Amino acid sequence: MTINSCKLVDLPVIKDQRGNLSIIEGLLSIPFEIKRVYYLYDVPGGAERGSHAHKHLEQFIVCISGSFDVVLDDGVESKRFTLNRAHYGLYVCPMMWRYLDNFSSGSVCLVLASEHYSESDYIRDYETFLKLTDR
Ligand code: TYD
Repeated sequence: MTINSCKLVDLPVIKDQRGNLSIIEGLLSIPFEIKRVYYLYDVPGGAERGSHAHKHLEQFIVCISGSFDVVLDDGVESKRFTLNRAHYGLYVCPMMWRYLDNFSSGSVCLVLASEHYSESDYIRDYETFLKLTDR
């Protein structure tokens, strides 16, 4: 897996005088079925989240409110994505080191995941991650 497998997806927006509505459908807008949803909120200024990779998990990260950055690293190349619109999401493939920073005050980070929580799927040590990527 390389960083090129990770993509920003512009989600459909249904605009209405009453407000906007965006849609994420498993296996349609994103390449996996959604088994788990979690969200980060009340993130204090200067905090960093993530700093790990997943062996098998696929994720889709959406900035529901405010803004934050997601840095992806495949062991060779790294890219910083700024998320600040609720109709954009970032697809993160397996074996991608990631961290999230620059959270604005009041920001909300929604994460859709392809599997239930499993600590054994995490790689929390960067040197171990580099060894496991055969790049
Ligand atoms: P972690 O995934 O390390 O957070 P982040 O990547 O956002 O910085 O998870 C933080 C803690 O929460 C860790 O102890 C595992 C626990 N956790 C669950 O129990 N279930 C979950 O679905 C998630 C995402 C985390």
